[in-house]
Amino acid sequence: MGRRGLVKAALLVCLLVLCSGRELTIKQRPSTTIYNSTLAKTLVEYASAIYTADLTQLFTWTCARCGDLIEGFEMMEIVVDVENCLQAYVGFASNINAVVVVFRGTQENSIQNWIEDLLWKQLDLDYPGMAEAMVHRGFYSAYHNTTIRDGVVHGIQRTRKLFGDVPIMVTGHSMGGAMASFCALDLVVNHGLDGVKLMTFGQPRIGNAAFASFFKKYLPHAIRVTHAHDIVPHLPPYFSFFPQKTYHHFPREVWVHNVRVGSLIYSVEQICDDSGEDPTCSRSVSGNSVQDHIYYLGVSMHAEAWNSCRIVTDYSRLRHEMDLNGNIVLSKQPGSSYLEHSDQ
Ligand SMILES: *[C@@H]1O[C@H](CO)[C@@H](O)[C@H](O)[C@H]1NC(C)=O
Ligand SMILES: *[C@@H]1O[C@H](CO)[C@@H](O)[C@H](O)[C@H]1NC(C)=O
Repeated sequence: MGRRGLVKAALLVCLLVLCSGRELTIKQRPSTTIYNSTLAKTLVEYASAIYTADLTQLFTWTCARCGDLIEGFEMMEIVVDVENCLQAYVGFASNINAVVVVFRGTQENSIQNWIEDLLWKQLDLDYPGMAEAMVHRGFYSAYHNTTIRDGVVHGIQRTRKLFGDVPIMVTGHSMGGAMASFCALDLVVNHGLDGVKLMTFGQPRIGNAAFASFFKKYLPHAIRVTHAHDIVPHLPPYFSFFPQKTYHHFPREVWVHNVRVGSLIYSVEQICDDSGEDPTCSRSVSGNSVQDHIYYLGVSMHAEAWNSCRIVTDYSRLRHEMDLNGNIVLSKQPGSSYLEHSDQ
């Protein structure tokens, strides 16, 4: 590391200490135990790839967003809930030796409309089996009450059967982050799976404080990455004067933002406290940016085609199953052809 590198590292340590006001002893090596920045930079690419409009490109992993960081990925399954415009994929990532499960964010209307609607989302569903825990029914149902859940669980089982009991990394951006959260919890609580890890990008709040503490108990190492002034993690709103009735994030937030020191700008990944609502993290600024929502760790999380739930290419030659409602599951067996008729 050159002299500039050293100065930069020293500055970063100072900033981390200043920002969080916690003990220096903890701060010296914050990222290795709680938050793995390298892993985040890999997962954000997987979370971005699902916005590829062309299903065939995604399935064959030839999409522009399937960049070099994610070489060595074996796609196992894509689940498309056509009725509800939802999508997820499951595969094996050899570079991180894990099953990767990715959920797509919203495609309906425009992102602006979706964000405006977030303001009015109610805590209108008791989370099953957990006293006092309430969540938003729409987010819950998107995962639990569609074809997504069965498809994803099936995909995970197939992947683990082939590649062994490797960890399961669940991720997603925006609405996809909300679905990823429900999925990770479901895998632990209802399917009894071990090695489940969660890292989301720019997700909204999904439940109340009782739900957040329930969540923390089952997924103590979950990470929610937030970016600068991204508006979505501020929604639905948190009312500190109304602690029992308000939405409440589960921990742990990692707030990625720029800090200006004189004429220099440093990017800081601030590891927040374990309350879920650290007032020194993204809550310390106003959430007023849509732009910050669609860029995470330098990667574009912008959908290639908004307002389009239609499937862009002809997938009929790819191996798939379709249910009565027209929802489809594309699945693939490594080493064998993914075409419907393997003689072609
Ligand atoms: C962080 O993640 C990377 C990529 O998955 C891995 O190679 C590395 O060992 C991890 N670091 C720690 C400290 O766990
Ligand atoms: C799931 O869907 C069914 C049928 O549409 C509906 O009756 C039920 O209330 C939904 N469950 C939840 C939790 O929203």
